[in-house]
Amino acid sequence: MSKISINTKEIPFQDRYKLLIGSIIPRPIGFVSTISENGVYNLAPFSFFNGICSNPMTVLFCPVIRSSDGQEKDTLKNIKNNKEFVVNIVSEEIASQMNQCSAEYPPDVDEFKQSGLTPEKSTMVKPPLIKEAKISMECKLHQLVQVGDGGLGSATVVIGEVIYFHANEEVYKDGKIISSKLKPIGRMGGAEYCKTTDVFSLPRPTL
Ligand SMILES: Cc1cc2nc3c(=O)[nH]c(=O)nc-3n(C[C@H](O)[C@H](O)[C@H](O)COP(=O)(O)O)c2cc1C
Repeated sequence: MSKISINTKEIPFQDRYKLLIGSIIPRPIGFVSTISENGVYNLAPFSFFNGICSNPMTVLFCPVIRSSDGQEKDTLKNIKNNKEFVVNIVSEEIASQMNQCSAEYPPDVDEFKQSGLTPEKSTMVKPPLIKEAKISMECKLHQLVQVGDGGLGSATVVIGEVIYFHANEEVYKDGKIISSKLKPIGRMGGAEYCKTTDVFSLPRPTL
């Protein structure tokens, strides 16, 4: 089979984006709640999201520059302002509410109200948990890393330490998370998502 090989410097960033989101699949989704300097709650999903390490317990996600106006997204502005956020995990049950929160609402609009999700008080940080999420992680900002020149197509990596972890009893047993109960969804390219119910095991080989 012959390969298509592309020098990424020779194609526009929009085309590079399509290659990234079509190739790195499925992506987990961090559903991030923040609070603005005026006290307005904000909710937005990010699929450039992952864990980094456990000592300290650390996660990252990447807000890109907003393509409509070249500005930073509200989530990033809020985190720059108060250095706190909550990452909630998206189960099948709240997929459509998550999608609702990806619309570009102005900063004074509370996406909890738009989506019908319920804010619940956090233990250590000001941004709220999502009551309907089966897992929520309270985070303190560790570091922001700008990648690119701050223009269209560039992003900031938000790295946060998880200082408090919340899980519904149904998904938690003996210190582990039961994925069949959590039912997280994954992001594919474009508007496609996947379920995580088609699972198989590969025991680690021993040498
Ligand atoms: C499933 C999903 C994943 C997304 N992942 C990202 C992402 O990784 N980075 C990003 O900048 N925007 C991503 N978006 C778009 C943001 O959610 C959207 O721009 C949102 O309006 C940002 O809100 P804010 O301005 O309140 O921060 C994603 C949208 C969806 C539906």
